[in-house]
Amino acid sequence: MLNIQHQFVENILCNASHGAKEQGRAFASSNIALCKYWGKRDQELNLPMNGSLSISLGSKGTLTEVQRSSLDRFFLNDQLIDPSSTFSLRLSRFLDLFRNKCRAPGFKVLTYNTIPTAAGLASSASGYAALVLALDDLAGWQLNRKKLSMLARIGSGSAARSLYSGFVVWHAGINQDGLDSYAEQLDVKWPEFQIGILKLSNNKKPISSRSAMQRTVNTSKRYRKWPKRAADDLEKIKISILEGNFSRMGQIAEDNALEMHATMREAVPSIDYFISETWIQIKKIQKLRNNGLSIYLTIDAGPNIKLLFQRKDAHIVIKEFDSLEIIDPFGDNNA
Ligand code: PMV
Repeated sequence: MLNIQHQFVENILCNASHGAKEQGRAFASSNIALCKYWGKRDQELNLPMNGSLSISLGSKGTLTEVQRSSLDRFFLNDQLIDPSSTFSLRLSRFLDLFRNKCRAPGFKVLTYNTIPTAAGLASSASGYAALVLALDDLAGWQLNRKKLSMLARIGSGSAARSLYSGFVVWHAGINQDGLDSYAEQLDVKWPEFQIGILKLSNNKKPISSRSAMQRTVNTSKRYRKWPKRAADDLEKIKISILEGNFSRMGQIAEDNALEMHATMREAVPSIDYFISETWIQIKKIQKLRNNGLSIYLTIDAGPNIKLLFQRKDAHIVIKEFDSLEIIDPFGDNNA
């Protein structure tokens, strides 16, 4: 009897082709959600309660090489990772789904992150997307991006969105089989759109996003309003992107992120990823906006802030925030 994840992978790969490469290789960009994914309706298949929308980080992401091997060995930026670490155990469990399909008892996985490790950006999204692409290259499945996004989703929900560049929507879907929950790209380029990474802390997360989501769904009364709120925000953000309305997009994205954090603060026990510096910077950003600068923020499961602004204002933003890492999602090498 196949378990539910194996059955799902079986469904996706049933008509796939087969090749005979010795090594698979791929790159995937990281992404930041403008309308957040928070809460699962199915833990095994990583099916979300709500749809989400992200912007890709272009050349910032993960490059992965994968080879068949007698046992699993994982390297991150050329360093062997401890096989008993949570990272390795999670990766091995994910690879269990593909061993038969790749005719590999184990995998040697070499991973290089081009996301500055000091920037406080999550790498699981680009990590699982690059791994799925590299497995597709190794085994010669030639799957389309839609199917690959569903495979990456099993590793980490937000990875579903890292199969594309630019703006990406991950559809929540309604079916229990998980085959209608996939990501697709919005056909829009917005070269003015810039992201600033404001890193405020290096500390490890107090609680993983997986556990935090579950606790929020189970115990936060405020969460009852979240799926509808997120669905409305997604539509409004999509329209403001299509219309090129930066301030509307930015305001909805900021409110969406702050609502997600307010929802988890009402979980029992409360979950609070912010540190005092997070609040100080939020106030500063809101004050700059009151003084006429079109700048907005978003925050994931951590204390660090991502600024959203336009290229024409970059010189002002750089002056206001020291050591800001600026990402140009539609720049020369991106999107
Ligand atoms: O994909 P996960 O399980 O790491 O969860 C991502 C959660 C957020 O980053 C907070 C929101 C999102 O949509 O990326």
